[in-house]
Amino acid sequence: MKKFRIAVLISGSGSNLQAIIDACAANEINGEVVTVISNKADVFGLERAANAGIPQQVVAANKGQTREQYDQRLQAELAPYKVDLIVLAGFMRILSESFVRQYQGKMFNIHPSLLPKYPGLNTHQRAIDAGDNEHGASVHFVTPELDGGPVVLQAKVPVFTEDVADGLALRVHSQEHRIYPLVVKWFCQGRLTMANDCAMMDGEQLSAGGYAADD
Ligand code: GAR
Repeated sequence: MKKFRIAVLISGSGSNLQAIIDACAANEINGEVVTVISNKADVFGLERAANAGIPQQVVAANKGQTREQYDQRLQAELAPYKVDLIVLAGFMRILSESFVRQYQGKMFNIHPSLLPKYPGLNTHQRAIDAGDNEHGASVHFVTPELDGGPVVLQAKVPVFTEDVADGLALRVHSQEHRIYPLVVKWFCQGRLTMANDCAMMDGEQLSAGGYAADD
């Protein structure tokens, strides 16, 4: 079976990128990260890509550029790599509807909350402020609605009364590194698809909380 060609888009440390690189290297994922693109220069994720011998590029936003113009540049950088899958791994830009539609069903995002709770930013503080006793991360297919695409897999962590956002973020992060490679593995096995805005696993529709959710 041919290896899936994966592009990973980042904006920062790239620890999820690393988890996916490692899973590909260990042949847990039948895929290969063929390019890493960052919208920020000098981020550690670019170093991780370089260390793994993966071509990396910075596509930084230019002043006055519209979202569509940025996404056209992104598309131009991606096109030569003929990717089968785009993995958003801490990529902190909203993508235009036309870009998303082009890759619909072939693009995942990881978000640090139990979606549909807390789309957007500051998710850990929001969970603490709300007095939640559990929090977590979600991997979902990307649709034009911000953090709104169908969930494939979530991981839950407890929230303790003494928690501060940074500590809670670390707890969530370690779970992200487990669930993101697993979802990419399933996709590269041809088990995951998106149909009618639903996530499908082995041809069966997943529930709102994703695989093995208790909803
Ligand atoms: C991760 O926690 C990811 O869930 C979050 O950015 C972090 C990136 O970490 N993504 C978002 O907030 C997207 N809305 P990493 O660069 O170490 O993988």
